[in-house]
Amino acid sequence: MKKTVLVMHGPNLGRLGLRRPELYGAMTLPELNGLIKKRAAELGLAVRTFQANGEGELIDWLEKNHARARGLLINPAAYTHYSYALRDAVEACGLPAAEVHLTDISKREPFRRISVIKPVCLRQFKGKGELSYIEALEFLAGYIKRQPGETA
Ligand code: DQA
Repeated sequence: MKKTVLVMHGPNLGRLGLRRPELYGAMTLPELNGLIKKRAAELGLAVRTFQANGEGELIDWLEKNHARARGLLINPAAYTHYSYALRDAVEACGLPAAEVHLTDISKREPFRRISVIKPVCLRQFKGKGELSYIEALEFLAGYIKRQPGETA
């Protein structure tokens, strides 16, 4: 059976393509998920995707799904900057996690330069639009492969 990576998108990312396309790009969330799934299949991985606007919904979904997964790719969106609850949930799920942002949050408004999620992730990928997700997925695939006992 294929190893599964969870892909979580936080608040307002359901409106990708419509929301400030000059910043976040023209791709819609279903298109982005399609791109991630395609690359995942090439890497021998399955993905399970989820978007929610609420902190509790994101945390509940992670609680429910983490046990069957091998990695987590998360764009926490605005929760990046202040959600200790989501930070704790990412830490508690125990999955190797990669934080993703379409934009370069280090070069935007001061409140966006802080990530409370970063310390519980292996790496942060930012500033490359959809490619940030693909790079994060490739990183996670490599990480999962290097775990003891992995053959493929
Ligand atoms: C974002 C950056 C956040 O600051 C913002 O609130 C988002 C998207 C990004 O992908 O660049 O919703 O996470």
